[in-house]
Amino acid sequence: MRIDIVTIFPEFFDVLDISLLGKARANGLIELGVHNLRDFTHDRHNTVDDTPAGGGAGMVMKPEPWGEALDSILDAGPADADPIIIFPSPAGVRFDQKMARELADEQHIVFGCGRYEGIDQRVFDEYAARGRVRLVSLGDYVLNGGEVAVMAMIEAVGRLIPGVVGNPESLVEESHEDGLLEYPSYTKPAVWREREVPPVLRSGDHGAIARWRHEQQVERTRRVRPDLLPTELQASEG
Ligand code: ADE
Repeated sequence: MRIDIVTIFPEFFDVLDISLLGKARANGLIELGVHNLRDFTHDRHNTVDDTPAGGGAGMVMKPEPWGEALDSILDAGPADADPIIIFPSPAGVRFDQKMARELADEQHIVFGCGRYEGIDQRVFDEYAARGRVRLVSLGDYVLNGGEVAVMAMIEAVGRLIPGVVGNPESLVEESHEDGLLEYPSYTKPAVWREREVPPVLRSGDHGAIARWRHEQQVERTRRVRPDLLPTELQASEG
């Protein structure tokens, strides 16, 4: 997968050199390009923003640098990749595990990190007319810019690319993969500060362990995220 990021804070993404995603890049599973939006300006001050048309507070990101940056990235991208451009925005559709799975199948994702009060609407309109553009929100709160949101999305998507996570089975039993939150995990020692690992997990009875874990998932989901519970589990207690 090829990932390009446009940002005014390219250093922000230096951390993608480390951990699982750094390894995935070294192995050639993920190819990453980080582009400084200011490199696509032509004035002495590398201006990327201006006052809002119609007045109001804050600054809006100018369309010209965005156009030059996105054109050059799309032109240089993998041939016949049908790229998708994602702009993180609190006004976007909610990012979730389903979207992460869909994005993990893409060949070329371009992330555009907005700052200030946003990006001139014509940038979205221009690229939506030419291809696939999505505004995507991490949640119902406001960040200063898209960088943190893009980092979160890249981590969620990157680990679903085949080969990135060493043991693919570890992906199956996580929160959100089966629509429920994950069950609590324990390891040795059997007793720590008088707190015991639940005996069922030490019983060797795999059927009982699977049943206990499922019950824990349902109970935890009912308690903290009742909105996620499938309807057949909503009515019954158990
Ligand atoms: N940029 C600012 N706030 C955001 C949010 N909640 N999600 C994604 N991008 C954002």
